[in-house]
Amino acid sequence: MSNETLQAVRGMNDILPDEAELWLWFEEVVRDWLASYGYRNIRMPLVEPTALFCRAIGEVTDIVEKEMYSFEDSLNGDQLTLRPEGTASCVRAVLQHNLLYNAPQRLYYSGPMFRHERPQKGRYRQFHQVGVEALGFAGPDMDAEQILMCARLWKNLGLSDVTLQINTLGDSACRHRHRAKLIAYFEQNLALLDAEAVRRLHSNPLRILDSKNPAMQALIEAAPKLMDELSAEAIDHFAAVQSILTQHGILFEINPRLVRGLDYYNRTVFEWVTTRLGAQGTICAGGRYDGLVGQIGGKPAPAMGFAMGVERLLVLLQEAGMALPKPLLDVYVVHQGELAARLASQVAEQLRDENLRVVLHCGGGSFKSQMKKADASGAVLAIVIGDDEAAAGEVSVKPMQGGTQVRVGVQALRDTINKLIRQE
Ligand code: HAM
Repeated sequence: MSNETLQAVRGMNDILPDEAELWLWFEEVVRDWLASYGYRNIRMPLVEPTALFCRAIGEVTDIVEKEMYSFEDSLNGDQLTLRPEGTASCVRAVLQHNLLYNAPQRLYYSGPMFRHERPQKGRYRQFHQVGVEALGFAGPDMDAEQILMCARLWKNLGLSDVTLQINTLGDSACRHRHRAKLIAYFEQNLALLDAEAVRRLHSNPLRILDSKNPAMQALIEAAPKLMDELSAEAIDHFAAVQSILTQHGILFEINPRLVRGLDYYNRTVFEWVTTRLGAQGTICAGGRYDGLVGQIGGKPAPAMGFAMGVERLLVLLQEAGMALPKPLLDVYVVHQGELAARLASQVAEQLRDENLRVVLHCGGGSFKSQMKKADASGAVLAIVIGDDEAAAGEVSVKPMQGGTQVRVGVQALRDTINKLIRQE
């Protein structure tokens, strides 16, 4: 067996403690923000039947065709997949547990997703999303609520430089009409299509519109537009969404080429993008998916949701100079001698009873080396206990940012510490 150090799987990252501080802070901000809109947490498994994603995301999407981590359960032969996104799982869970029985649902989840993409800055094989799903809401007020929510989060996080693009994909009848016209148009121009486009012609002609092939751009430009096929209801819905956004002063750009890479969308789709992250500039994306609940086997119900890429948001925050406030540790307890060790552990537990964050030095060493560790820990105070202090039932308290060291009885420690830390 090789004794080479093993590395993490390519595209899957460790989040080390310094960075994890930022994640924890972000997760707290996000929890408060979601609660302020009445969204409740749901947690689904990381592994689902492969068929769920094929049916929900679409057989001919990039995700299902080439990005899923799928495997066979060696015990029973079931086909399973590490979830590439959360919407399908969330809808599956809602249906399985009958959550739509008598009330619509505002739900959110967060956690890792897995896609076998080519890793680069902002694009990973294991990445994290915060996903938001509202099920049972048909009106444009929900579309607008979710977009407004995002705008508020960017404000809460102190993010600028994020812009909103929206589009409407119409309803399934509009899309069927458009699809038929596209196929007819591309069939008439078969000689101008590249191999990839020919392959997609009958399975997913819409994706031909995403082609970056310069030789096909003129053809794509002149292709039939979905906009021309929209029903009056879909047009009214989109107009109402825009009107609420405008009423709230939310700026947006209508991007008719915004089609999204998952098949379940209809009507409103949106993306929040930034130019600060290079090619992977979409930090948050979503839309309406009124057909999905029925498609997964439930009684049809309208729905709308979005997900944000946590890694991309955090890079953006770091690039905007985001620095975390406040030290993480209140007290570092140093001690030397047997009696002192006993008192030190007792004192540390007492301070934790007071909800203070305390590290008790472990592993011995001179006072000098222990104080170095106390200094490096970022603690506000050090408590120093030697056997002579312990014998007298006292400890020394040393403010780490300067100030005089005081020696106090254990009984008075709580008040002294509270005064020094909480400035009471
Ligand atoms: P999505 O556009 O595939 O939508 O992903 C949402 C966000 O996840 C992207 O905008 C991006 O920020 C982040 N993301 C996606 N792939 C990666 C990756 N490989 N590395 C890093 N970040 C990534 C969905 O997943 C839908 N489920 C959103 C939704 C919820 N629609 C309705 N409800």
